Amino acid sequence: MATAAAGGRRRRVLFFPLPYQGHINPMFQLAGLLHARGFSITVFHVRFNAPDASAHPAYDFVSVPDDGMPADSPDTVQATMDHIVSVNRACEAPFRERLAALLERQRARAEDVACLVADSHLLTLLGVARGLGVPTLALRLGSAACFRCLTAFPMLCDKGYLPVQESSQLDAPVVELPPYRIGDLPASAAAHGQLREVLSRVVTAVTTSSGLILDTFDALEADELAALRRDLAVPVFDVGPLHKLSPAASSSLLRQDRGCLDWLDGQPPASVLYVSFGSLASVSASDLVETAWGIANSGRPFLWVLRPGLVRGAPPSSISLPDGFDAATRGRGVVVSWAPQEEVLAHPAVGGFWTHCGWNSTLEGVCAGVPMLCRPFFADQMGNARYVDHVWRTGVTIDGELQRGKVEAAISTLMGAGEPGAGMRRRALELKNSAAASIGEAGSSSVNVDMLVSLIQSM
Ligand code: UDX
Repeated sequence: MATAAAGGRRRRVLFFPLPYQGHINPMFQLAGLLHARGFSITVFHVRFNAPDASAHPAYDFVSVPDDGMPADSPDTVQATMDHIVSVNRACEAPFRERLAALLERQRARAEDVACLVADSHLLTLLGVARGLGVPTLALRLGSAACFRCLTAFPMLCDKGYLPVQESSQLDAPVVELPPYRIGDLPASAAAHGQLREVLSRVVTAVTTSSGLILDTFDALEADELAALRRDLAVPVFDVGPLHKLSPAASSSLLRQDRGCLDWLDGQPPASVLYVSFGSLASVSASDLVETAWGIANSGRPFLWVLRPGLVRGAPPSSISLPDGFDAATRGRGVVVSWAPQEEVLAHPAVGGFWTHCGWNSTLEGVCAGVPMLCRPFFADQMGNARYVDHVWRTGVTIDGELQRGKVEAAISTLMGAGEPGAGMRRRALELKNSAAASIGEAGSSSVNVDMLVSLIQSM
């Protein structure tokens, strides 16, 4: 096993996550992994969604001012891009100043800085580090398939797939990138030009770094990873599933309601539908009503995460479920504002996962061997759903307008005794086993972690 101490020097790895839950978690998991191999860790972060330093007493934290960043969490592609652009802009000068000061201090210690691992959306900050002589690695949150779409974005525009002109095009296949259909691409008709620019910066962030780190594993995306290795001039390290490999402490930004685990203890095996739409997506009031009645009418036990701010137009702190919902589901379900999701998914009582298909949730569902009901919202989520229902065939997607009847039918398909649900559950278990094998001794991700540690040691 490669460790930081291999060359006799203590090395420090710097991290800079994008400040969203789905990006912070894998970054902390990777930090935990490298810390366990003997590296010292410093986490740079902005004030927005700042991590809880007290949960990671062994790490150093450096706060970087983010003046001018929008104060609200983004829930659309456009808002996310505005955020990403403003993080890069706001942090450039203060990050340079703080990094230079850190490097100065390190010179006086018996430690040196090996590299910066930053989110691939932070091109400017990766450039700042290299300008100060610090090698960089890009951590890309998302699937290998999604990153292929990003590298192919100019081609997709040249060939007329993007921007999407009419909704009738959405089901057309992207011949060069199967199994994507046009509607599965991470695109935005309204903000096409800005998105193209932001995604091209992501690709540049990767190709100008010393390597690309992906939270995925070979058995899940063998062809996609092989294509990336063929097309990219930098090494690709698929080191996932990071949440299974890493001893990281929780990096949850919201307090997780652990009481729901006690409730799950009292439910029969594989009986409960777990429902969560991640940390950013928002739903309309009418979709909330259809979701509620679909769940109620399914007759199944459920655990539902209603995150503050989930419903557009509703006060963030109080989400009202439709009249009659409580009575219709009494004794059969639990609603929480945030759950310990990894533990929930791993609980034997959970038999289905209704997800927005953020990459972390998708991977966590895969590793738990739980079939998924997919309802993607934006960005990479449609592509992730496509892989769940079309490639891995471990779930079903609800397309089009959300209606309670569709929800009820999808839950019944997913969790019902017969086919096709039984096949989905069988394949989900097979994927769970291949995820476990990838992080076992000589598993593909374990080998990649060793190679990554050796690379960092040599930097
Ligand atoms: C965002 C983007 O929306 C998505 O497209 C991209 O793939 C990742 O970043 P997000 O909404 O944060 O996704 O979802 P996801 O990637 O699934 O991450 C959510 C994280 O929050 C998961 O690690 C999950 O375990 C955690 N979570 C979620 C909880 O801890 N508790 C909950 O109740 C719900």
